[in-house]
Amino acid sequence: MRDVPRFSHPRLLLGSETNDDAGVFLLNDELALIQTVDFFPPMVDDPYLFGAIAAANALSDIYAMGGTPLTALNVAAFPACEDKALFIRILQGGADKVLESGAFLVGGHTIDDEEPKYGLAVTGTARPGEIITNSGAAEGDLLFLTKPLGVGIITTALKTGMVKEAEIAPVLQSMASLNGAAARVMVECGVKGGTDVTGFGLLGHLYELASASGLLAELWMELIPIHQEAEELAIQEIAPGGAYRNLKYLQDKVSFAPQVAEHQRLLLADPQTSGGLLMAVPKQLAGRVEGQLELAGVEYAIVGKMRAGSGIKVLSE
Ligand code: CO
Ligand code: CO
Ligand code: CO
Repeated sequence: MRDVPRFSHPRLLLGSETNDDAGVFLLNDELALIQTVDFFPPMVDDPYLFGAIAAANALSDIYAMGGTPLTALNVAAFPACEDKALFIRILQGGADKVLESGAFLVGGHTIDDEEPKYGLAVTGTARPGEIITNSGAAEGDLLFLTKPLGVGIITTALKTGMVKEAEIAPVLQSMASLNGAAARVMVECGVKGGTDVTGFGLLGHLYELASASGLLAELWMELIPIHQEAEELAIQEIAPGGAYRNLKYLQDKVSFAPQVAEHQRLLLADPQTSGGLLMAVPKQLAGRVEGQLELAGVEYAIVGKMRAGSGIKVLSE
């Protein structure tokens, strides 16, 4: 990427350098534009569900920044020889998610490709003072996580037929669910630091949050929500290549208590598709955030704490 020109402007609040979830451009003193794009090949057979998951995942980067999605464009690839009805089902799944988010689908682009791919380019808005970033965490903040970990491991097992889609309906439901309600709680309560958990796994995204904020993140292994199926698979060393790559990348940045088992390390580094939000919540706001998340029906867990220092420490009893 070093040979690609970099962009900077006083109104360009967040570009591609900070590893944040989306780019942010200040339109005027009251309004910032948030833009992101995400698309990938199917991880499930059901085309409608794939569309819904891909759309929820793309919308999540707007939510992770504390934004409200406004418009979305389909980004798609589909083999010309395949049954068009399948493609329509993908688009329906995506469009229904955009509808649920309150945003508007305004077009898109499809190319012919051997392997189908689908996602969205999403534009959202936020008040400049309410934008949530990787650098917004402070010492003493509690780490809140929504959505259990392990969907990368489970979808890997899906590909090999070790599990069937019908057996993991709640997992797929979790992947297709929007992070919108949790994002509104963050904004209403004044949370400043956060991100969503996607391809780099909990550890990778937490490391971005900790390093951008100049802090050390402490995780409490026993409190981290994990899909039970994923735990069982991880024990059998079923995990996507990305989980191993994430662990390798993080090896000198994360210290694990000796009790943290090998399979637990894989789960913490498992790449998530449409994962939950990771929020750094100041202690004095924690009670309010908990109350509002419960009221909104969002499942969450308090999984750790930000401290002075650098890197990540995973503690276990
Ligand atoms: Co993201
Ligand atoms: Co993204
Ligand atoms: Co992120």
